[in-house]
Amino acid sequence: MSKTVLLVVSLSLMSPASEALDNGLALKPTMGWLHWERFMCNTDCDTDPDNCISERLYMQMADVMVKEGWKEAGYEYVCIDDCWPSLQRDARGRLQADPKRFPGGIKKLADYVHSKGLKLGIYADVGEKTCAGYPGSLGHYETDAQTFADWDVDLLKFDGCNLKWTLLGEGYINMSKALNRTGRSILYSCEWPLYEWPFQKPNYTAIRETCNHWRNFDDVFDSWSSVKSILDWTASHQDTVVPSAGPGGWNDPDMLVIGNFGLSHDQQESQMALWAIMAAPLLMSNDLRDICPRSKQLLQNKRIIEISQDPLGRQGYRTAKGNSFEVWERPLSKKRLAVAVLNKQEIGGPRGFAISDVPGWKYCDPQCNVTLILPQYKEMGVQAKESKLILYVNPSGTALLTVTPISKHRPHWKKTSAKHDQIIL
Ligand code: GLA
Repeated sequence: MSKTVLLVVSLSLMSPASEALDNGLALKPTMGWLHWERFMCNTDCDTDPDNCISERLYMQMADVMVKEGWKEAGYEYVCIDDCWPSLQRDARGRLQADPKRFPGGIKKLADYVHSKGLKLGIYADVGEKTCAGYPGSLGHYETDAQTFADWDVDLLKFDGCNLKWTLLGEGYINMSKALNRTGRSILYSCEWPLYEWPFQKPNYTAIRETCNHWRNFDDVFDSWSSVKSILDWTASHQDTVVPSAGPGGWNDPDMLVIGNFGLSHDQQESQMALWAIMAAPLLMSNDLRDICPRSKQLLQNKRIIEISQDPLGRQGYRTAKGNSFEVWERPLSKKRLAVAVLNKQEIGGPRGFAISDVPGWKYCDPQCNVTLILPQYKEMGVQAKESKLILYVNPSGTALLTVTPISKHRPHWKKTSAKHDQIIL
């Protein structure tokens, strides 16, 4: 490890987090399951009944979520994505579920999910059509919000396809108001900034006042390059997006693809660790009926979930980069710090990273308590500022740890402003 440490102070200051959407929801990052990445728009129930978008799929996921410890771990929302509706609205202009694939209708499905102590999410689009070509909500915001409320739905993912970008703000705000007017608590998940970025820098104050979480960047795919691109985007826009996150409103880097086909176990650990550091919604898109024990254990890891759900509600960010390592840090409650060290070198074996090179290590003065969470749980005990501890990190893997300073002068994480100190290692 190079000992030349260059300090680069980024120019922009973090501005105070603005007011969150005042619906009392998403005080912590949402946890649940969402069908899209794994099941996409599979509507062929004749030849693929187990994997098609149908009421059976969500009922089975809800069953497993209760039986296999997911609910107990905190995963609460069972969410429908695109391709659930009939291609036609009903005679009264309301959306209706495809009758063949959802014979009981959404209200009955919601009742079923609620009977398991879980919540149901649904999907619609701010424009004329959804991204997959199903009826959009443009011109029907009041009706659709009321329909979802009548069905006892608990979350709406509102996509941004097929609308002129200049109308996005108005559309997302009007749907937010329409949901509010129904009087039902419906968590509002937006994609407003994702569709606005190609044209202009989104207004995150307005977005936070309107939505409970919001997608900023491309859809996640089941690959390490996709996960990396999301991390890169987030780090390179962190001065803009990080300050807008807090209880009630979160940046959404898209679904967890852990338990699928494209990520090695180390890469799955990296996604889980970094999503927790980013205070991201933890919406799994995988097949919970058939998931390998290691992925299950990782997704249900209490210590990582505790970081994700930390009551301070601050999003972490990249604090150092260099020598094919990245360090991400998240301030936690009780003056603790979560640290993720990601080894981006995709060749060779485990590489060592000196813990004293973590920028936040300066708070370990004169001593701190260190708990290693990934790649395996280990109490590292009391460490001194001069600690020579080396973390070994596998290629595309992550070491995740918490640091608790033991001193009279504990760090005070400023609530409203802080400089992003970027350290090039
Ligand atoms: C967009 C969204 C995805 C998914 C699809 C459905 O691409 O970003 O998350 O909802 O639409 O068509």
